[in-house]
Amino acid sequence: MERAEPPNPGSVVVGCGVIGDVHANALAELARRGQGQGRLVGVVDVDRAKADAFGRRWNVPATDSLERALSWPDTRIAHVCTPSGLHAEVGMRAARAGAHVLVEKPIDVTLERADLLIQACRDAGVTLGVVSQHRFDPGFQELEAMAQQGLLGRLTLGEARVKWYRSQEYYASAPWRGTWELDGGGPLINQSIHYVDLLLALCGPVARVSAYTATAAHDLEVEDIAAAVLRFTSGATGTILASTAVFPGFPERLEISGTDGSAILEDGALTYVATRAMLGDIGSHGNPGAGRRAPPMHAPAPHEPPYGGRHTDQIADFIDAVSTGRPPVTTAEAGRAALAVVLAVYRAAATHREVALDDVEKAPPPLPRQGEAGWAVGAERRETNPHGVGGEGRPRLN
Ligand SMILES: NC(=O)c1ccc[n+]([C@@H]2O[C@H](COP(=O)([O-])OP(=O)(O)OC[C@H]3O[C@@H](n4cnc5c(N)ncnc54)[C@H](O)[C@@H]3O)[C@@H](O)[C@H]2O)c1
Repeated sequence: MERAEPPNPGSVVVGCGVIGDVHANALAELARRGQGQGRLVGVVDVDRAKADAFGRRWNVPATDSLERALSWPDTRIAHVCTPSGLHAEVGMRAARAGAHVLVEKPIDVTLERADLLIQACRDAGVTLGVVSQHRFDPGFQELEAMAQQGLLGRLTLGEARVKWYRSQEYYASAPWRGTWELDGGGPLINQSIHYVDLLLALCGPVARVSAYTATAAHDLEVEDIAAAVLRFTSGATGTILASTAVFPGFPERLEISGTDGSAILEDGALTYVATRAMLGDIGSHGNPGAGRRAPPMHAPAPHEPPYGGRHTDQIADFIDAVSTGRPPVTTAEAGRAALAVVLAVYRAAATHREVALDDVEKAPPPLPRQGEAGWAVGAERRETNPHGVGGEGRPRLN
């Protein structure tokens, strides 16, 4: 049982990079709203110069010592914004010091470490949340309500598509990007996990996965294309398409169909909704395109931080959760479930076999290491073999 906090608990941002700045910005936006939420009390980065610059920017104390920041009397929430493969380690240290933990997605890059983090937070009686800010997109919330009210009927097909572009320079912009060890993979775990989470929130748990991955347009040890077919435990079918190799990139997209309707979410907005209740009799051949909606024009509000301001909603929800002792909207268990599906996709692609989610639970795939057999060399077009099992690759240098 998590303990409730006094109102407006202080936050420390751990990891002063791209997303750390979004968290600081979101806390400042909450403070500006004057509703008793949002109090950045300090920042931490192992890179002292980055921490100092960030602290100056946000006018708060800065340190390169996590333990020091956790000992500050106002520290109640740790926002873990470090590279993904360090989330559990940093989160566990924060929990053991008694801080609530809001960890960026993914929860970590292995289920073992995710479980250690979940257990550490339980043992310490602190709240653990995993960022999945698209849960707060108005279009998703409308879609979720429609599904819950049964307007789409029994869900039969769910598709998550994140077809983005990232340059080679993006991957070179920090040493952890595009590595198995610290990024956990490529666009599947990094960019598409948001929409994997949305798919699971609507369609429920996944039972089995088949998949292909490839490294098609980058010099990377991880995939830049992943294509997976899912069977949900409900019997519904699903697909995931994740890429950072699609020029020039498309808005991310979720398509959900049920026995009585379909809806399409694009870039957080519902661009298509058609239900049997709306359309009535559609004859024997249906009515393709009947529910098309004009995409809303998005005008950013003043002070709206990047990522559409949804981090602000997510952080407000987390602060309210720790203040009242209720679970946050995106729980640790939801973050873990999305990670388990991602790991099942990697395993299915590596082994060329259908993978049951239960198998991923029983024997988590080992993290591949550079130089292990099973890696391909250079930028040649190749099929990736993330776990070095049964593939065609050869050792590769980064
Ligand atoms: N929710 C989203 O939409 C979203 C968007 C971008 C990134 N992210 C996630 O945020 C995390 C960070 O991504 P980023 O793009 O900000 O990376 P980044 O490289 O810009 O920043 C990471 C920072 O963490 C620091 N760091 C590394 N190890 C540390 C440690 N042990 N303690 C303290 N600081 C440490 C680094 O020095 C760096 O400043 C990743 O897990 C990523 O998946 C989420």
